[in-house]
Amino acid sequence: MIRSILFVCLGNICRSPMAEGAMRAEAARRGLALDVESAAIIGWHAGEPPDPRATRRAAAANVDISEQRARQIDYRDFSAFDLIVALDRQILDDLNSMAPAGSRAEIALLLDHVAGREGEEVADPYHGDAAAFDRAWRDIAGGIGALAGRIAGEAADQPSG
Ligand code: 4NP
Repeated sequence: MIRSILFVCLGNICRSPMAEGAMRAEAARRGLALDVESAAIIGWHAGEPPDPRATRRAAAANVDISEQRARQIDYRDFSAFDLIVALDRQILDDLNSMAPAGSRAEIALLLDHVAGREGEEVADPYHGDAAAFDRAWRDIAGGIGALAGRIAGEAADQPSG
Protein backbone atom coordinates (compact mmCIF):
# COMPACT_ATOMS: atom_id res chain seq x y z
CA MET A 1 0.00 0.00 0.00
CA ILE A 2 1.23 3.49 -0.88
CA ARG A 3 1.73 5.71 2.17
CA SER A 4 4.46 8.03 0.93
CA ILE A 5 5.20 9.63 -2.44
CA LEU A 6 8.13 11.67 -3.74
CA PHE A 7 7.63 13.66 -6.97
CA VAL A 8 10.81 14.36 -8.93
CA CYS A 9 11.59 16.78 -11.77
CA LEU A 10 14.81 18.46 -12.90
CA GLY A 11 14.90 21.57 -10.71
CA ASN A 12 12.13 21.05 -8.09
CA ILE A 13 10.90 24.58 -8.70
CA CYS A 14 8.23 24.07 -11.41
CA ARG A 15 6.65 20.68 -12.08
CA SER A 16 7.31 18.61 -8.96
CA PRO A 17 6.24 21.39 -6.54
CA MET A 18 2.95 21.67 -8.47
CA ALA A 19 2.60 17.86 -8.29
CA GLU A 20 3.34 17.87 -4.55
CA GLY A 21 0.75 20.60 -3.98
CA ALA A 22 -1.87 18.94 -6.18
CA MET A 23 -1.38 15.59 -4.42
CA ARG A 24 -1.55 17.13 -0.94
CA ALA A 25 -4.84 18.81 -1.91
CA GLU A 26 -6.22 15.63 -3.47
CA ALA A 27 -5.21 13.53 -0.45
CA ALA A 28 -6.93 16.00 1.87
CA ARG A 29 -10.05 16.00 -0.30
CA ARG A 30 -10.20 12.18 -0.33
CA GLY A 31 -9.15 11.73 3.30
CA LEU A 32 -6.01 9.78 2.35
CA ALA A 33 -3.14 9.67 4.86
CA LEU A 34 -0.11 10.25 2.64
CA ASP A 35 3.33 11.72 3.18
CA VAL A 36 4.03 13.80 0.09
CA GLU A 37 7.31 15.51 -0.84
CA SER A 38 9.14 16.58 -3.99
CA ALA A 39 12.77 16.77 -5.04
CA ALA A 40 15.14 17.69 -7.87
CA ILE A 41 17.68 15.74 -9.88
CA ILE A 42 19.99 18.78 -9.88
CA GLY A 43 21.01 20.82 -6.82
CA TRP A 44 21.04 24.25 -8.50
CA HIS A 45 17.85 25.54 -6.90
CA ALA A 46 18.17 23.88 -3.49
CA GLY A 47 16.59 26.02 -0.77
CA GLU A 48 14.62 28.15 -3.24
CA PRO A 49 10.83 28.58 -3.25
CA PRO A 50 8.96 27.42 -6.35
CA ASP A 51 9.15 29.51 -9.54
CA PRO A 52 6.58 32.35 -9.17
CA ARG A 53 4.85 31.16 -12.35
CA ALA A 54 4.28 27.73 -10.80
CA THR A 55 3.10 29.31 -7.55
CA ARG A 56 0.63 31.51 -9.46
CA ARG A 57 -0.74 28.64 -11.53
CA ALA A 58 -1.23 26.44 -8.48
CA ALA A 59 -2.85 29.33 -6.59
CA ALA A 60 -5.32 29.74 -9.46
CA ALA A 61 -6.48 26.20 -8.59
CA ASN A 62 -6.58 27.08 -4.86
CA VAL A 63 -3.38 25.15 -4.13
CA ASP A 64 -0.76 27.00 -2.07
CA ILE A 65 2.79 25.83 -2.83
CA SER A 66 4.53 29.01 -1.65
CA GLU A 67 6.00 27.41 1.48
CA GLN A 68 7.79 24.64 -0.41
CA ARG A 69 11.58 24.74 -0.73
CA ALA A 70 13.57 22.88 -3.35
CA ARG A 71 15.90 20.06 -2.42
CA GLN A 72 17.97 17.54 -4.35
CA ILE A 73 17.04 13.87 -4.25
CA ASP A 74 19.15 11.72 -1.93
CA TYR A 75 19.95 8.01 -2.09
CA ARG A 76 18.05 7.56 1.16
CA ASP A 77 14.85 8.64 -0.61
CA PHE A 78 14.83 5.31 -2.44
CA SER A 79 14.27 3.48 0.83
CA ALA A 80 12.22 6.22 2.56
CA PHE A 81 9.37 6.44 0.02
CA ASP A 82 6.90 3.81 -1.23
CA LEU A 83 6.55 5.52 -4.61
CA ILE A 84 8.83 7.89 -6.52
CA VAL A 85 7.12 9.61 -9.45
CA ALA A 86 9.05 11.08 -12.38
CA LEU A 87 7.55 13.98 -14.33
CA ASP A 88 9.30 13.08 -17.61
CA ARG A 89 11.13 10.18 -19.22
CA GLN A 90 14.63 11.60 -18.71
CA ILE A 91 13.88 11.87 -14.98
CA LEU A 92 12.52 8.31 -15.02
CA ASP A 93 15.78 7.08 -16.60
CA ASP A 94 17.84 9.09 -14.09
CA LEU A 95 15.88 7.64 -11.16
CA ASN A 96 16.21 4.10 -12.45
CA SER A 97 19.96 4.48 -12.81
CA MET A 98 20.35 6.14 -9.39
CA ALA A 99 18.22 3.61 -7.49
CA PRO A 100 20.44 1.56 -5.16
CA ALA A 101 20.14 -2.22 -5.55
CA GLY A 102 17.25 -3.58 -3.53
CA SER A 103 15.68 -0.16 -2.82
CA ARG A 104 12.04 -0.48 -1.91
CA ALA A 105 10.52 2.48 -3.73
CA GLU A 106 8.41 1.80 -6.82
CA ILE A 107 9.53 4.18 -9.58
CA ALA A 108 6.93 5.36 -12.10
CA LEU A 109 6.16 8.03 -14.67
CA LEU A 110 3.28 10.30 -13.62
CA LEU A 111 1.25 10.03 -16.82
CA ASP A 112 1.54 6.21 -16.83
CA HIS A 113 -1.35 6.42 -14.37
CA VAL A 114 -3.61 8.12 -16.90
CA ALA A 115 -5.42 5.72 -19.25
CA GLY A 116 -4.44 6.50 -22.83
CA ARG A 117 -1.48 8.69 -21.85
CA GLU A 118 0.98 5.99 -20.80
CA GLY A 119 4.57 6.94 -21.56
CA GLU A 120 3.76 10.64 -22.01
CA GLU A 121 5.65 13.39 -20.25
CA VAL A 122 4.81 16.55 -18.41
CA ALA A 123 6.84 18.93 -20.57
CA ASP A 124 9.29 21.20 -18.77
CA PRO A 125 7.67 24.67 -18.68
CA TYR A 126 10.77 26.45 -17.28
CA HIS A 127 11.76 28.09 -20.57
CA GLY A 128 8.15 28.50 -21.69
CA ASP A 129 5.36 31.03 -21.21
CA ALA A 130 2.22 31.08 -19.07
CA ALA A 131 0.55 28.68 -21.51
CA ALA A 132 3.34 26.17 -20.85
CA PHE A 133 2.65 26.37 -17.11
CA ASP A 134 -1.06 25.98 -17.85
CA ARG A 135 -0.40 22.82 -19.84
CA ALA A 136 1.93 21.47 -17.16
CA TRP A 137 -0.67 22.14 -14.45
CA ARG A 138 -3.44 20.41 -16.43
CA ASP A 139 -1.23 17.39 -17.17
CA ILE A 140 -0.20 17.20 -13.53
CA ALA A 141 -3.78 17.55 -12.25
CA GLY A 142 -4.87 14.70 -14.55
CA GLY A 143 -2.02 12.50 -13.39
CA ILE A 144 -2.62 13.25 -9.73
CA GLY A 145 -6.35 12.55 -10.03
CA ALA A 146 -5.65 9.15 -11.57
CA LEU A 147 -2.86 8.29 -9.14
CA ALA A 148 -4.97 9.32 -6.12
CA GLY A 149 -7.80 7.17 -7.47
CA ARG A 150 -5.48 4.17 -7.62
CA ILE A 151 -4.23 4.77 -4.08
CA ALA A 152 -7.75 5.28 -2.74
CA GLY A 153 -8.79 2.02 -4.43
CA GLU A 154 -5.90 0.15 -2.83
CA ALA A 155 -6.72 1.66 0.56
CA ALA A 156 -10.35 0.53 0.20
CA ASP A 157 -9.16 -3.04 -0.55
CA GLN A 158 -6.99 -3.10 2.57
CA PRO A 159 -8.56 -4.76 5.64
CA SER A 160 -8.76 -2.19 8.43
CA GLY A 161 -7.64 -2.72 12.05
P1 4NP B 1 11.37 21.79 -13.20
O1 4NP B 1 11.82 22.98 -14.21
O2 4NP B 1 12.29 20.64 -13.47
O3 4NP B 1 9.97 21.52 -13.58
O4 4NP B 1 11.53 22.36 -11.80
C1 4NP B 1 13.15 23.39 -14.31
C2 4NP B 1 13.67 24.26 -13.38
C3 4NP B 1 14.97 24.71 -13.50
C4 4NP B 1 15.74 24.30 -14.58
C5 4NP B 1 15.21 23.42 -15.50
C6 4NP B 1 13.92 22.96 -15.36
N1 4NP B 1 17.05 24.77 -14.73
O5 4NP B 1 17.69 24.43 -15.72
O6 4NP B 1 17.54 25.53 -13.86
